[in-house]
Parts: sequence; C-alpha cells; structure tokens
Amino acid sequence: MEISIKNICCIGAGYVGGPTMAIIAERCPHIQVEVVDINEERIRDWNQEDFEKLPIYEPGLAEIVKKCRGKNLHFSNLVKEKIEEADMVFISVNTPTKKKGLGAGKASDLKWVEACARQVAKYSKEHTIVVEKSTLPVRTAEVIKSILNETKGTLVDTNIKKTFDVLSNPEFLSEGSAVKDLLQPDRVLIGGESKDAIQALNEIYLNWVPSEKILTTNVWSSELAKLTANAFLAQRISSINSISALCEETGADVREVARAIGSDSRIGEKFLNSGPGFGGSCFKKDILNLVYLSEHFGLPEVANLWNSVVTLNTWHQKRLATLITKKLFGTLSNKIIVILGFAFKANTNDTRESAAIKICKDLLDEGAILKIHDPKVSAMQIEKELNLSPYKSNESGKENFKEGSWNKIEDMKNIFNNADAVVILTEWEQYKNMNWIEISNKMRRPSWAFDVRSIVDPKEIINSGINFWRIGDGSQN
Ligand SMILES: NC(=O)c1ccc[n+]([C@@H]2O[C@H](COP(=O)([O-])OP(=O)(O)OC[C@H]3O[C@@H](n4cnc5c(N)ncnc54)[C@H](O)[C@@H]3O)[C@@H](O)[C@H]2O)c1
Repeated sequence: MEISIKNICCIGAGYVGGPTMAIIAERCPHIQVEVVDINEERIRDWNQEDFEKLPIYEPGLAEIVKKCRGKNLHFSNLVKEKIEEADMVFISVNTPTKKKGLGAGKASDLKWVEACARQVAKYSKEHTIVVEKSTLPVRTAEVIKSILNETKGTLVDTNIKKTFDVLSNPEFLSEGSAVKDLLQPDRVLIGGESKDAIQALNEIYLNWVPSEKILTTNVWSSELAKLTANAFLAQRISSINSISALCEETGADVREVARAIGSDSRIGEKFLNSGPGFGGSCFKKDILNLVYLSEHFGLPEVANLWNSVVTLNTWHQKRLATLITKKLFGTLSNKIIVILGFAFKANTNDTRESAAIKICKDLLDEGAILKIHDPKVSAMQIEKELNLSPYKSNESGKENFKEGSWNKIEDMKNIFNNADAVVILTEWEQYKNMNWIEISNKMRRPSWAFDVRSIVDPKEIINSGINFWRIGDGSQN
C-alpha cells in the first residue's frame, strides 16, 4: 500500500533536527514540516526575527530557514499537537553517554528517545512511521517498537486502529558543512522491515537525492553502520595525531607523511589533518557506545581496539597543554595566552567536547591568563564549558585579571597586547592570514605561536620574530 507523507513532525530542534528539517521543507514544498522541542528558549531562537541569531550556526542555513519558515517549516513547543497531525515522526533528540547506572560512562542514555516513543505512542493517530534520526545503539528500534506496540490498538472514539512502522535513518552530516552534506549526501541510509514505510521515506529523499545514493538495509545494519562510520572517522584522527607525536620526535613532518599516505587510493586523503584531537558531541560518545556493545556481547578485544581511539585522543590533548607549558619555561603563572578558536571545528558554534575545553582547563590550572577569541561562540557558552566565570574589568575600565583566569575578547586588534603566546585551536578562516609583524610588535618577548591546526605560513611567523611551533613538525626540534 502506497503511503503518501503530507505532515512530518520532528522531535528535537538541535544540530541535526533543525538543519535536516529545513532541507526537507525546502526540497519538499508539498510537505508540512513541524519541528518541536521541549526547550522553549531554543524554539524562541529558531523563530527569531533576526536570522543571524538562529540557535545553530551553519553556513547557508539561515537563508533556507528564511525561505521556508512560516510557510511549510514551523518551530514550536507543541509536541502533542504536532505528533497528532503527523504521518511521519522523526526522533532527533540527544543521546549522550549515560552518567550513572548500568553502562555509565559508555552506554548511550536513551531516556529522551524512550520519552519520545511514549509520546508518539500516546498522541499519534492511525498509521505513523517513526524514523530514528538520532544515533542509537544497535537494537534500539526494538525498544521503540515494543513501546509503540503496547499502545497499538483501536482509538476509542473512532474505531480506527493505531499502527506503526519503525525505520532507522541515521544522519551523517558533519557540523560546519551540514547544509552541503544534507543537499549532496554521500549516501542516505534507510533501515527497516516494511517496504511501504521504506518507500515513503525514500520518496521524500528522492526529491533531491539520486536514487543510487539511497541505500536500504535491515534496521540493525543501519544502526550499526552509523556507529561504525563515526568510529572509523575518529580512528583516523587518533591515528594521524599519534603519528604527529612521532614526527615531532623523529624530524619527520606529519603533513608530508599525510600527503604520502593519502595519495594511496586505498587510504584516501580525507581526515588526515593532524590537529588538537577530535571533539563534537558524537565521536567520543559513539565510540564509547561501540565499546559498551562489544563488551556486552562478550568481545573484549573489539572493545579494547575502539577504546584506544578515545584514550589516544585524551592523551593527545593533555600532551599539547604540557608542551605549551614546557615551551614557556615550565610555568604559565601570570602569563597571557591568546586562544584563537573555542568551537570544536570551524563554521560551527558548537563547543561540545571541543579540544579547547580540555586544553584551556589545563593551561588555567598552570596559572595562565587566557584571552579567548571565537567568532561564533559566546562568552556564556565558554563559561559553561570551563565551569569558571570570566574576569571582569575593574572600575577604571582596566582589565582585572589574575592568575588562572580567562575572558572572551571580541576585538582582535587589542587581544595580542602583552601576550606571551598565541595558540590556534580552531581553523577559522580569519586566523589564516593575520599580520604577524603587527602581532609580534604587541607581544611580550620571548613570544610564542602554537599552530595546532597547521593553518598559518611558518615563514611569516618566524620572520616576525615570534618563536614558532606547529603540530607534527619535527624540523623545529
Ligand atoms: N550534531 C551532529 O553533528 C550529529 C550528526 C549526526 C547525528 N547526530 C545524532 O543526532 C542526535 C541529535 O543530536 P543533536 O546534536 O541534534 O542534539 P541536540 O542536543 O543539539 O538537540 C536535541 C534536542 O532534542 C530536544 N529534546 C530532548 N528530548 C525531547 C523530548 N522528549 N521532546 C522534545 N524535544 C526533546 C532537546 O531539547 C534538544 O533541543 C544525537 O543522537 C546525535 O548523536 C548528531
């Protein structure tokens, strides 16, 4: 039986739900797309008049929201009402690592997903296709199904049966390029049993995705493929970062090594940039989830392999903070360090699990005074991540900083005054071509620049008289 989708409800207006639904709305003007969330502030921000202030920054997203919002794209807290109207419900809520109880520190916390399943079970009408968009452990669809099936039955006042299909449709977008990734995905993955439900979701994607890029699998393969994709990507980052440490010791250059191995078509050139270690809300949590599943199914060797990817990442971030401290004569007490970039990568305002958090905390513990700049991350967000209030200016307007304190500086002109070091942590475009002679003149000597992203020309920095270190460059020892 052909199912035609007219009303979509997406539960969760976050980094995945917001952009994904904006693209569906834009590409499918015949479908009404309702994005609902329990977070009132987030929904208020999605409905902001000023499109620059949407809660999620992604290049190109504001323009799409502007085009569709109020027409076939709506953001609200009306969870019950919008589930009632929907033929298809996407579950796109957070699935963080469990903090306590069984599987704490590794397994995904499914309480938000379970809550959604219960809401769908309660409020939906007639036939509803439930789509898992969140990244979930293998066999979660079974949990959702059993909750839904408990309530399956006849609607009391209408004699109409409530029925459900559950599909897995994990999202592979990368923050910072979400719009491009959604418009031109490498693949769309749909896992499910019901041919009609798969076809209904397929029809939506076919509005802009070529059919050969839409893969269908069973539900379990689809769920596991998402975890595996993130584990493989993170593994490449840990692998190249491990080699960067070796390069620094041996006189090799990680960029040259990466180019040499990346031109092997079996390896490929992507995800071979050494940097401050992976961040973002997904990689660590998804690998830990894989570790938990492997342990659960009695496969400790598999668990150990993936766990080492996370261990290396943590070690690498610590290594960078230690290295900065050592270069600055082993003490950061009252030294001013400029941190360029706090987001976990460029083109996003997301700071979850950003390497900058760990590195900044370590530098603060050593007594440094941090002046942090990021074009898209607010001071409030940094305060939340560092769990420390910024220093304030005193009455005369002078900076009133003390050992182990930080502040966010908006104005790049004055940020370098009297600084002992500059650390580039996020690869924002504007950090790539700075005037290092001007910067050098403002800094205290001996001054240092640490390019953890390999985005500046070493010659320019060295010529400016600043001592220079960059990741994985063994020639500087
Ligand atoms: N962020 C990424 O780059 C990315 C990429 C691919 C997949 N994923 C996965 O997608 C899922 C969502 O990630 P995100 O980054 O969008 O998370 P997020 O935290 O940005 O957004 C989740 C939203 O869900 C809302 N929510 C939670 N429970 C709810 C409920 N019962 N009813 C209504 N709203 C509810 C929260 O208030 C929040 O706004 C996760 O499973 C994540 O692993 C994320």
